[in-house]
Amino acid sequence: MTDKGEKTAVRGLEGVIASETRIGMVDGVNGKLYYAGYEIDELAEQVSFEEVVFLLWHDRLPAEKELLAFRDQLVREMTLPPALQDWFRRIPADLHPMVVLRSAVSDLALFDPEAADNSAAATQRKAIRLVAKIPTIIAGIHRMRQGLDLPAPDLSQGIAFNFLRMFLGSDPSPYDAETMDLVLVLHADHGFNASTFSARVTASTLADIYGAVTSAIATLQGPLHGGANQRVMEMLTEIGDSGDVADYIDGLLAQGKRIMGFGHRVYKVQDPRARHLRKRAGQVCREDEGCTYFKMSETIEEKTLQEKGIYPNVDFYSATVQHALGIPVAYYTTVFAVSRIAGWSAHVMEQLADNRLIRPRAQFTGKYPRKFTPRSQRPEGGEK
Ligand code: CMC
Repeated sequence: MTDKGEKTAVRGLEGVIASETRIGMVDGVNGKLYYAGYEIDELAEQVSFEEVVFLLWHDRLPAEKELLAFRDQLVREMTLPPALQDWFRRIPADLHPMVVLRSAVSDLALFDPEAADNSAAATQRKAIRLVAKIPTIIAGIHRMRQGLDLPAPDLSQGIAFNFLRMFLGSDPSPYDAETMDLVLVLHADHGFNASTFSARVTASTLADIYGAVTSAIATLQGPLHGGANQRVMEMLTEIGDSGDVADYIDGLLAQGKRIMGFGHRVYKVQDPRARHLRKRAGQVCREDEGCTYFKMSETIEEKTLQEKGIYPNVDFYSATVQHALGIPVAYYTTVFAVSRIAGWSAHVMEQLADNRLIRPRAQFTGKYPRKFTPRSQRPEGGEK
């Protein structure tokens, strides 16, 4: 059969089961999400991000001492090669942090003697470095661009606390650290989302984990995926200037535009992650700002459900939570990456453990066969 074949192309691979996995399950009909079989409603607010990383990698929750040792191992890796930090000072300040992040993650391979070693043990060691260093890279980009120092991690704390400490330059309150931890827990894995799929496709060629994660970060950046959280805050800011939330949403829908942070390929009911983030957004929003963005978000949610019958996804309330934590809007999608590296790395390891090249086919819709014309005989302006 040629690639012209039968008419079997599934646009956007919608509904296609591309592989087996034991890492996570999205039940879009019932609005449930499971990490290694545990429902997110049970995990959220009860486990730390490090516990989730351990769970996704090892298919079991760690015991107390094991968790402390694992967290210690991660936090000790939260330092960066000095050359990478120097590079942050030299890159143009208008480059999007996601572009810098993906280049920096690719660069990490240059400093890792194990970069090309695809054995299970070396891949797991590299995964530890990636989980640990991605938050530091993001904090480093932000701090160095402002000519500020990058604080060292506090070895007695975990990733969420240290990310905020390094990014903001001072220790977060326990509540803010707990909020960041919740954000990280909720974004850690989500089935065969586009960035995870990219990571697995890259790993399936037996490229190394740095390459797989670089392509995942590039994929996450798009506004139909993780880039949506940044667009949500831009929308809220724009509405803030012009005033009326309902008019703004009506205007977008009348023009056939998408409302960022709404809709989902798999969930046909409420995204459970959005429910947890909505609750936390209402708790963490700063009263001195009158929780304006949170209240606007609730109005947008009501209006969009009423007009289009669609629900917010993870990116919608993640925007207001991050705003309350003091993260600048250009960095929102990078925070998604701080978390999703847990899922990407778990999937890369799963792919490599039982690899089969991911290589689907396309349905050819062009003309064929065509008669070849030598260059000297081709008409100007192209052949018909
Ligand atoms: N705003 C307005 N209408 C929407 C939206 C939206 N955000 N999302 C879906 N629809 C409508 C769409 O117009 C279509 O309506 P109709 O049948 O009347 O033409 C219907 O819902 C089905 O949409 P679709 O395009 O077939 O859905 P999809 O599975 O291709 O798209 C999506 C999924 C996430 C790309 C889409 O919902 C979207 O563009 N959302 C906005 C961007 C966003 O929030 N992305 C984050 C996704 S979830 C977390 C993550 O990955 O980061």
